[in-house]
Amino acid sequence: MPVESIAPEETQMAVAAALLAHYDRHARSLPWRMPPGSEARADPYRVWLSEIMLQQTTVAAVIPYFAKFTARWPDVAALARADEAEVMAAWAGLGYYARARNLIACARVVTEELGGRFPDSEGALRALPGIGAYTAAAIAAIAFGRRAVVVDANVERVVARLFALATPLPQARVEIRDRTDAITPDDRAGDFAQAMMDLGSAICTVKTPQCLLCPLRPHCAAHATGRAEAFPVKPPKKDKPERTGVVWWLEREDGHVWIERRGDKRMLGGMAGFPGTQWDARGAARGDARGAAKGGTPPVDGAWAALNRPVVHVFTHFRLTLTIERLLVGAGCCPQGEGQWWPLDHIGGAGLPTVFAKVAAYMMEKQVDED
Ligand code: ADE
Repeated sequence: MPVESIAPEETQMAVAAALLAHYDRHARSLPWRMPPGSEARADPYRVWLSEIMLQQTTVAAVIPYFAKFTARWPDVAALARADEAEVMAAWAGLGYYARARNLIACARVVTEELGGRFPDSEGALRALPGIGAYTAAAIAAIAFGRRAVVVDANVERVVARLFALATPLPQARVEIRDRTDAITPDDRAGDFAQAMMDLGSAICTVKTPQCLLCPLRPHCAAHATGRAEAFPVKPPKKDKPERTGVVWWLEREDGHVWIERRGDKRMLGGMAGFPGTQWDARGAARGDARGAAKGGTPPVDGAWAALNRPVVHVFTHFRLTLTIERLLVGAGCCPQGEGQWWPLDHIGGAGLPTVFAKVAAYMMEKQVDED
């Protein structure tokens, strides 16, 4: 899509102008940054190091590591000469350790093959170890003043709101890139990128955007809807996978039910529960319920009767449909496995997790119905 068709040129320029004016007054002072509008460019080594450290990591977490690294290895040649184990140890705690391995590899390529200078184009930067599309654009813009379209998660949110994009992420990514391209100015692309990041982290935040403080409010389509926080639009929730299982409700005629402690390796391990099969995605609940296919055998042999209506419980990761099978036994019944007879009139004190509490509630209601 040609950028002119995305927003009128005046709007594009007005957005950049408003954002840069705000950045001139409110830019965060960060150790790898030059003050806004500086004639002097930031040191590409420091920009590169900070951008690698900032991948999936907060500014607050990065600051002490950045200080440590630049004190110990003040330039790319020093880092290229460093002992690998020492660099890895200095990185410890920052996470995503592939970044540290790539850091050393990249420093060595720049020092040994590129005469100690980082390339100034996105394409050449991308060819270096550990530098992807985002990082190449950020370094080209911030360290070399190149016009580059810099889109990280904060920028995605700001742009999705600015244009009230109806498409959810990740499908909206191409459009977001085009829109960001449309508002990126030819001059001060590095300041613009960092201004967008600052706006996303301090004002245009995920849950409660501070629209009253936002320099882009007059241009923001999401703000105009009155629900800026609803953008970016969330993708529709995926249907939960279905699982089925059988619970064996073994009831003694003097008003007790058989309760087991669930094995540690099972879901809800260590909790109280009724005996039953495993919960899995295969088969109808009843058909293969008793066999090994579902795992588990009833605590006693007998004429188990399946109830017509199952109990449904929704866990975070799946929806469980439990068929209940019931057997009424005499006082002398001795079930297999470890468990205990629990008085039905004190079932609330058995410490049952919700799914089994639902089974109990259903069975108790049923009994009232039947009586
Ligand atoms: N996150 C990634 N790069 C950043 C930068 N240059 N300034 C602030 N936050 C960032």
